[in-house]
Amino acid sequence: MGNTTEVLPRLAMKVAFITGGAQGIGEKIARLFVKHGSKVVIGDIQDDLGQSVCEDLGLDKATYVHCDVTIESDVENAINMTLTKYGKLDIMINNAAIIGGVNHNILENDLTDFERVLRVNVIGVFLGTKHAARAMIPARSGNIIMLGSVSGSIGGIVSHAYSSSKHAIVGLTKNTAAELGQYGIRVNCLSPYFIPSPLTDKMINDYPEKYSKVYSNLKGVALHEDDVAEAALFLASDEARYMSGHNLVLDGGFTVINPAFGLFARASPTK
Ligand SMILES: NC(=O)c1ccc[n+]([C@@H]2O[C@H](COP(=O)([O-])OP(=O)(O)OC[C@H]3O[C@@H](n4cnc5c(N)ncnc54)[C@H](O)[C@@H]3O)[C@@H](O)[C@H]2O)c1
Repeated sequence: MGNTTEVLPRLAMKVAFITGGAQGIGEKIARLFVKHGSKVVIGDIQDDLGQSVCEDLGLDKATYVHCDVTIESDVENAINMTLTKYGKLDIMINNAAIIGGVNHNILENDLTDFERVLRVNVIGVFLGTKHAARAMIPARSGNIIMLGSVSGSIGGIVSHAYSSSKHAIVGLTKNTAAELGQYGIRVNCLSPYFIPSPLTDKMINDYPEKYSKVYSNLKGVALHEDDVAEAALFLASDEARYMSGHNLVLDGGFTVINPAFGLFARASPTK
């Protein structure tokens, strides 16, 4: 008899809501979660794109709802729709974000742009967390994941607004983990390095020479959206059942190295 090793779905019977799931990382998370047995609801402002992703996944497994994360009634209605359709919410992925203008001079940073980035990236995450908690507290279980960034750990990578927003949601992760632990709800942040996507296209196109070297620490591996989805799957699954309040950085070691010192870069690699 052959050796048949069956891979069990890690999110069987789960229901997940993913903000900003119409494209990019959110879409990859939706696809992987469905593969692992979860029902998913995608909330986004790109209605045609979000609907087509759900149709592709199968409307028995995926549902699209218009949800602007900056509008509380949209978030409230989207979570209510999820509860009506599936009876529960197990996993909330606060993924929607914008990058805003990239301006290298604070004196030229525009207040309106700064506020717009914080509105999506921080207030949107707060509203998603609040309404997810409303659904999860009565169930005495749940799992909330914020999409952060390496720019939530160190400075000098992106705009002030984006970096501030990603630092802020690490704080929100810790604070809500502290509060919601009493209900068995885990809250974690997942912070990837740069990945070519519509979000980062402009930065990468403007400075290709910088981003061509970004993976130089961990040789032979380049970060893809699928890697982020796999890390989200880990945080969402029972394998991570004792993890809460954590900022899981997915960066090949980027944030723990100061290349200015360069001790190992100066030494010859061991053959
Ligand atoms: N791409 C990267 O290099 C990278 C690196 C680190 C972290 N991240 C984070 O990962 C997450 C996803 O990034 P991505 O690269 O997939 O971006 P993306 O731009 O490809 O996708 C973002 C999605 O969010 C949606 N969205 C934007 N504003 C919204 C709003 N107000 N309400 C609802 N939806 C809204 C967009 O329509 C889009 O579908 C973000 O939180 C981002 O900050 C991305």
